[in-house]
Amino acid sequence: MKLSAALGFVTDFRYALQASLLGTLKAVVSSPSLLLKPALVSRIVMSYVWGMFADGVDGNGREIKAELITQGAHGLVLDIGAGHGHTANYLDHDKVTRYVALEPNTLMHPRIRETAKAAGFEEANGSLVILSCGAEDTETILSSVGAVDTIVSVLTLCSVPCPELTITSLVRDVLKPGGVLLYFEHVRSPRDDVAWWQKLWTPLWQLAFDGCKLDRPTHLWIEDALDTEGNRIWKEGRRWGVKDEPEEHLWWHQVGRYTKLS
Ligand SMILES: C[S@@+](CC[C@H](N)C(=O)[O-])C[C@H]1O[C@@H](n2cnc3c(N)ncnc32)[C@H](O)[C@@H]1O
Repeated sequence: MKLSAALGFVTDFRYALQASLLGTLKAVVSSPSLLLKPALVSRIVMSYVWGMFADGVDGNGREIKAELITQGAHGLVLDIGAGHGHTANYLDHDKVTRYVALEPNTLMHPRIRETAKAAGFEEANGSLVILSCGAEDTETILSSVGAVDTIVSVLTLCSVPCPELTITSLVRDVLKPGGVLLYFEHVRSPRDDVAWWQKLWTPLWQLAFDGCKLDRPTHLWIEDALDTEGNRIWKEGRRWGVKDEPEEHLWWHQVGRYTKLS
């Protein structure tokens, strides 16, 4: 792997620090007890970081999301790690009945409301529901909105705890039979040299991006998901890459659309 590609990390990490340092310091100074709550500090950092990156990242993925989400999402849509709610912009009102934005970082909820409202989804008429739990909390998801027709995950499964378990329970318990899982994620590279750098940078990267790991083979975990009897859970599925993305990309992306057996 070229050193310039491996060090691409440094630029993004520096931007993330620049975006978050001052605001996070101010928050800690005005409430020093935050120092005892590192998870909360991490969310504050992420709210600044995502404030800087979200629109650009969305812009870069627009074509992919239009193909994946606009074409594939239907019925009750659960967007895990909704961020600023950009997914709402890709939902087709003729097919989608309700947008459920799951976002444990409550600092992002005002942005979700704003984006979703502009896209025609509002809490007032029930077309928007915002959940504050993590994607791993499937009991809360089920008790709040019931089983869903579509699960969308955009750049989120890199951050959830116990990812294999979380993917399995979301697909087994939360996704309806015949429902679809749509994902667009950065994942572990199939190239050993790139994967080596991804593993090296992950401990630092996750500090700035609320636990985000660069080296998860999320695409393979999804592909291999099984039902409770140990059988394949998918009726059909397809995954593909991002056109013209260099092989040496530290954030190597995969896109997938999987339909659960009925
Ligand atoms: C890189 S951002 C992506 C946001 C959004 N999906 C997008 O593409 O604009 C990752 C998001 O995952 C959220 N997140 C972190 N831990 C999570 C968890 N356990 N369950 C669900 N979302 C989580 C973060 O708060 C953050 O908003």
